[in-house]
Amino acid sequence: MAGSTYGELFRITTWGESHGEALGVVVDGCPAGITIDEDRLNEYMARRKPGQNKYSTPRKESDRVKILSGVFDGKTTGTPISMVTFNENQRSSDYSEIASYYRPGHADYTFDSKYGFRDYRGGGRSSGRETLARVAAGYIAGCLLNELGITVTAYTKSIGPVQIDYDRFNEADIMNSPVYMPDLTASAEAETYLEDMITKKDSAGGVVECVVKGLPAGIGDPVFDKLDAGIAKAVMSIGAVKGVEIGDGFAVAKTSGSVNNDSFTCEDGNVRKLTNHSGGVLGGISDGSDFIFRAAFKPTPSIASTQHTVNKSGEDIDIEIKGRHDPVIVPRAVVVVESMAAVTIADMLLKGMTATIDGVKRFYR
Ligand SMILES: Cc1cc2nc3c(=O)[nH]c(=O)nc-3n(C[C@H](O)[C@H](O)[C@H](O)COP(=O)(O)O)c2cc1C
Repeated sequence: MAGSTYGELFRITTWGESHGEALGVVVDGCPAGITIDEDRLNEYMARRKPGQNKYSTPRKESDRVKILSGVFDGKTTGTPISMVTFNENQRSSDYSEIASYYRPGHADYTFDSKYGFRDYRGGGRSSGRETLARVAAGYIAGCLLNELGITVTAYTKSIGPVQIDYDRFNEADIMNSPVYMPDLTASAEAETYLEDMITKKDSAGGVVECVVKGLPAGIGDPVFDKLDAGIAKAVMSIGAVKGVEIGDGFAVAKTSGSVNNDSFTCEDGNVRKLTNHSGGVLGGISDGSDFIFRAAFKPTPSIASTQHTVNKSGEDIDIEIKGRHDPVIVPRAVVVVESMAAVTIADMLLKGMTATIDGVKRFYR
């Protein structure tokens, strides 16, 4: 199976299944000398952990990540950084029925069509649990970005019909909200909505927004490797993401050029924009303003109410999915979006170093 590696210079390879022995990631191409703290890494991991509250799957996992290589005396050595988490709470029997039928909204049918065989326990490789490895890699990428003063911050913008109000936006509240919203009023409304979904044995979707600050102008390439194209691929590769918007996104289709164009101005000799409809990228290259994008997540496909499907013998059947599932994926996916953005930008920053001969000379002379 190909496709488990992402990135060119800052390259990650994730491995492992939801209910296998362990999951992990190898990060290759990370520069030497970056300070890495394993406890901080595990604090970062906790944002994706299951069982945080009643809005995330009750599967109890410590999700403790161990760094096996590539870090010595608290600093990266420039060699592959290998990280592992051992699965503790497999309870595969919860999933034994899944072997015989295709769950709506899941990869069961497509996986069988492609490979003729699948690890059905909890979705195997297609499980949201794979994203654990992305978050570990994202932490390393984030440490690299922090060295350059670049920060990546993601949060929940909406759950179902409940959306944050930017007048109440308080970044410090993201970590105080059980659904990672920077608006505690909207957060409480989202909780009420989720309670209703749980009662109805249904699930909810939502939108994650991500803001990258401190990104210099010039990151990304003008054709296939555009910054926005790279982010779209990275974020769309997260399970359950069904749409990615950069800047004003789909709303640009309804506006006019005179409104949508961001005027430039010169301030103390520096070019900057008066507005940021573009979301910080022009022609695939960062323009020095905040880079802003959003990801739309579908409602959790595993729901407890009765659904119609077929089994592997081709018979129409009704099913009720057992096991432990998030009533909404969005809150746990916030840090996954942040991580994939960090990995993508770290890779593009390293690739950008060879863009001009002056840059190459600065390095070698
Ligand atoms: C962090 C995270 C957690 C997830 N948790 C669940 C879950 O508990 N139950 C579920 O049915 N799907 C969950 N998913 C979604 C499935 O993995 C995904 O919808 C499925 O593999 C089908 O892929 P697709 O939606 O991209 O087509 C989760 C996804 C992510 C990113």
